[in-house]
Amino acid sequence: MASQTAQGPYSVHILEKKDYTKQHIVEFNEPLPPLAPSSVRVQTSLISLTTNNITYARLGHVPMFNWWDASPLPFKEGEYSNSEKYGRVNAWGIGTVIESTAEFVPVGTKLFGYHPIGTLPADKVVKISELPGMIDDISEHRKSLFPGYNQYYILGERDANSDKAQAYFSLFCVFFETSYHINRLSFSWEPSVGAVNPLGLEVPPPLDTWTKERADLKRAVVVILSASGKTALSLAYALRFLRPESERPRAVFAVGSEASRSFTESTKLYDGVLNYDLAKSDSSQVAEKLGLSAQDKIVLVDFGGRGDSFELWRESLRSISNNVPAIRMAESVPEHVQDIDEVNASFGSMLDAAKDTYVGNAFGMRNAGMALLGTKTYMTDFRNAFEGFMESHCVQCVKPMWGEGTSGATGVEGGWTKLTSGHVDPASGLVFRLT
Ligand SMILES: NC(=O)c1ccc[n+]([C@@H]2O[C@H](COP(=O)([O-])OP(=O)(O)OC[C@H]3O[C@@H](n4cnc5c(N)ncnc54)[C@H](OP(=O)(O)O)[C@@H]3O)[C@@H](O)[C@H]2O)c1
Repeated sequence: MASQTAQGPYSVHILEKKDYTKQHIVEFNEPLPPLAPSSVRVQTSLISLTTNNITYARLGHVPMFNWWDASPLPFKEGEYSNSEKYGRVNAWGIGTVIESTAEFVPVGTKLFGYHPIGTLPADKVVKISELPGMIDDISEHRKSLFPGYNQYYILGERDANSDKAQAYFSLFCVFFETSYHINRLSFSWEPSVGAVNPLGLEVPPPLDTWTKERADLKRAVVVILSASGKTALSLAYALRFLRPESERPRAVFAVGSEASRSFTESTKLYDGVLNYDLAKSDSSQVAEKLGLSAQDKIVLVDFGGRGDSFELWRESLRSISNNVPAIRMAESVPEHVQDIDEVNASFGSMLDAAKDTYVGNAFGMRNAGMALLGTKTYMTDFRNAFEGFMESHCVQCVKPMWGEGTSGATGVEGGWTKLTSGHVDPASGLVFRLT
């Protein structure tokens, strides 16, 4: 068995399940067990934090997601062994293989994927993935997760040797992928794709009514809420650069807070940048600002617009035109921590199939893309598009803001506090080097 020694004590980032703003950095100082066959021991080296991590903590208990299962508490006794009260969320980032009994993953390999926060290594039973350049974590405790959370990219030499590349990979890869799918599958123009529901294939009624007509963006106007976020920027980029000119929407508008306006403008991806509050004014003002008429098709895409901005914008746009399909990729981050009943009620109402409103899921769409276009072709196309996106102006507008370690103001602890207080500058991508 090959190994690269990792010394304890290790840090473990733990959240209170009822209040994800409360975090505990706990030391783990027990010997690690022998590594099982066909396994790798992975130590997280670098992670990113975005509002997406809040989603993992807020909805970790929802049976569809089971995000608390990704990294169980490692303690067998004591306060932090209580999994009713405490849990760990993972983050997108890079892990280093420090021990291996799987000959296809040598020690030193860098894996991009969904890793635990802290320096405590995680053991994974692995197999070679059907996805090119990836391995699958097939550990028993992760079977309740969507497959996408168990798939890890093996970084090539160039990325494995560049801190900057790893930071951008961690900040953007999954979010770009999400919007790559929306653009190519849900707003499809390719006859072989048809129109894929934002949840993927085989969507149960009453959510199964996404049609080619809804997917058609020619001459449509797209309005994106929380437009400064990484998934939103990726969609605006894809709409502009990753579809034939004749299939592009007439205009794409950004909606966000005043605080994010100058950043959003700097990305040069949008035809206009508007404030959430505009939807509180008379809809004739909205129509005038966006150049809309009753004949227009207006597509509303929500990446977690603040407060009740989604409802306000949908109402306002629907009083201008009766052709306003809406896709919700996220709920807003609530201003106060909700109790579990409030969370469930709010998530349940998002899933309620309101007229012409659809919910989206990145990994449902990924599966659809692979089924319709072939796993290798689709994922290779996506990786090539991601390479191009990484070189784009909008990505360069986001500068990594480096932190070190799990604890302290400049570590993950400080980053989590900043993130959950709702004040991260969109121009700063939070990344943390852990080992
Ligand atoms: N359904 C899916 O499959 C899927 C896939 C990927 C992401 N998502 C979801 O999409 C959402 C966006 O994720 P992301 O990683 O792209 O976000 P991000 O880059 O962290 O987005 C940052 C922007 O979000 C806005 N925001 C609203 N509330 C915030 C808060 N409490 N704290 C910080 N920023 C806040 C801010 O813009 P303003 O100041 O202008 O509001 C901020 O500039 C998340 O909810 C994520 O879970 C869903």
